[in-house]
Amino acid sequence: LKLGGSVITHKETPETVDDDALTATIEAIADADPERLVLVHGGGSFGHVNAAERGLSRTAGSHDAADVWAVHDAMRRLNDTVLGRLHDADVAALPVHPLSVAARDGAGDLSVPPESTATLLDEGFVPVLHGDVIGHAGSGATIVSGDELVVRLAAGLDADRVGLCSTVSGVYADGEVIPRITDFASVADALGEADATDVTGGMAAKVRALLGLDAPAHVFGPASLSAFLAGESAGTVIDG
Ligand code: IPE
Repeated sequence: LKLGGSVITHKETPETVDDDALTATIEAIADADPERLVLVHGGGSFGHVNAAERGLSRTAGSHDAADVWAVHDAMRRLNDTVLGRLHDADVAALPVHPLSVAARDGAGDLSVPPESTATLLDEGFVPVLHGDVIGHAGSGATIVSGDELVVRLAAGLDADRVGLCSTVSGVYADGEVIPRITDFASVADALGEADATDVTGGMAAKVRALLGLDAPAHVFGPASLSAFLAGESAGTVIDG
């Protein structure tokens, strides 16, 4: 389950957690008490500003440790807050910091070795990852988004299902949430970004990546989180 940064932070105010939203999210997770759950959270008002100020993106890196640390530190502080709240709700959460486990090769391809996360999961913990900075061969360190981590981990952990909870209720076409997407061609026009070179992490890129997974992915808003955790369909189901 990925929690979008805009769900758990106030996006317009730098480094501000949205207390009410985070509480509601964590209550939904604690109430559902899923048997096996991996969480990934985004940055929202954490991380993105530091990354932009220091010129870091998924492709533009830095060799300056101060740049890399600034972004990691912001994301780690948000992760600390999320972890603390999960513990308050008796969820057995433990952090997995992507900086320490993931990397990009010289072509920019991401690898997220799943062993650390898989072992914690098998031992009954709820691993919690986050968007981060990671080593990138030839480029120093670059950003890895929560969505990228979800796609790699879902494959690496052989996930049964994937949830992306953001502030939108699903994937939209003509003002309506599309209930089910089974191939990219049928939604390419509606998403308006059929170009395979999308590096901004837009909805088209997200849908394409999720269609490549074996597991069905649900894209939904906070109001549908409990339904998703109960095993029901939520928002748009992307199932290639
Ligand atoms: C934040 O992760 C990455 C940074 C370190 C800047 P995401 O890109 O997944 O965050 P949201 O969910 O879009 O805010």
